[in-house]
Amino acid sequence: MSHRSFTPLICGSRVFLLLLLLVLSSSLLYFSLLEQTLFQPKYHQDVPQRNISILLWHWPFGRSFRLRGDKCLEKYNISRCFLTANTSTFSSADVVIFHHQELSRGRSLLPLHRDRHASQYWVWLSMEPPVNNLNVSQLNGLFNWTMSYRRDADISVPYGKTVLGGDGRAFTAAPNRSCLVGWVVSRYQPQQARAAVYQSLKKSIPIQVYGRWNKKPLSNKKLLPTISKCFFYLSFENSEATDYISEKLWRNAFQAGVVPVVLGPSRATYEALAPPGSFIHISDFRSTEDLAVYLKLVAADRKAYEQYFQWHHTHRVKTYTDWIERLCQICVQYPHLPANRVYDDLEGWVQS
Ligand SMILES: *[C@@H]1O[C@H](CO)[C@@H](O)[C@H](O)[C@H]1NC(C)=O
Ligand SMILES: *[C@@H]1O[C@H](CO)[C@@H](O)[C@H](O)[C@H]1NC(C)=O
Ligand SMILES: *[C@@H]1O[C@H](CO)[C@@H](O)[C@H](O)[C@H]1NC(C)=O
Ligand SMILES: *[C@@H]1O[C@H](CO)[C@@H](O)[C@H](O)[C@H]1NC(C)=O
Repeated sequence: MSHRSFTPLICGSRVFLLLLLLVLSSSLLYFSLLEQTLFQPKYHQDVPQRNISILLWHWPFGRSFRLRGDKCLEKYNISRCFLTANTSTFSSADVVIFHHQELSRGRSLLPLHRDRHASQYWVWLSMEPPVNNLNVSQLNGLFNWTMSYRRDADISVPYGKTVLGGDGRAFTAAPNRSCLVGWVVSRYQPQQARAAVYQSLKKSIPIQVYGRWNKKPLSNKKLLPTISKCFFYLSFENSEATDYISEKLWRNAFQAGVVPVVLGPSRATYEALAPPGSFIHISDFRSTEDLAVYLKLVAADRKAYEQYFQWHHTHRVKTYTDWIERLCQICVQYPHLPANRVYDDLEGWVQS
């Protein structure tokens, strides 16, 4: 066999391989498209177009709000989703929500003595980090779904989220910032990580502190205007827990147009959830002295400061504060929620 006949053979097998790859990849593409176009909508259509009734068993933190009328439709354009706090509708409710704070006092607060129909889902709801969720183990084996800010909750209801599409807010390093670093804190506890960082950081730079702890409470009306006078805001969570990023970031910093210095979950979590390049994570610094030096540098350098607002061109932030909006979300996610799930180790899930 000469070289000449050998070469086309290799070429031929290469062509064959290429063709094979082409066929394989296009059939993969075909099947994924098929899944998207056929299976997904079919799945939606299979879900009966019926009303979903959601019963809120306790008012979260004992504070009631109006549920009368078709709130999900009126406020959020979500249809066939009916909320009630009338516990006498228990037997007919599709979903019953239990807010943890009120349950922690004991199982006796649950309707365990009443008939729970086989297709009724019980939801454990908490927007608090694990340290504030006490007595969870007594609730093992009762709940079908979890509802929290965590991404891995069945019904994930974050305090805020990043969405694509610039918000058109043109930011300039406002010439009038009279304060370098601001912090609003109501429940200061010396044993918290954020307290240690604050105590250490304030030795290097001035920090304007507001809130009940400092006897300088801010009304809702004054909160954002006050914070917006600062270059930086300490979005320090009271607890460092998986995915726990509260309104301290989404509202206090982003809505005020201030660069947040964050302490909470890992940098990777903030990178996944917050707008790109929008924050300063304390884990990036070896010491609070280093952090202080950096903050002073950035505040003095208009270009460097404005870098932290670039994301406004491509992203915007949506905050969630309304319990009704969170509850209506259940209906949106309902068709995709798992059937036959039981949290036998709810405590384990909460603490993980
Ligand atoms: C859904 O609720 C609306 C308003 O209460 C009612 O008019 C309608 O009959 C209900 N539909 C079903 C299928 O139960
Ligand atoms: C936890 O449960 C026990 C007994 O059920 C109760 O005495 C205690 O007050 C509960 N703790 C909280 C914080 O509710
Ligand atoms: C800057 O701040 C001062 C004092 O707080 C205020 O009087 C003035 O109106 C502000 N100027 C602008 C452009 O916001
Ligand atoms: C919900 O959880 C309970 C366990 O408390 C279980 O008996 C029931 O089958 C579950 N319901 C659904 C609809 O999955």
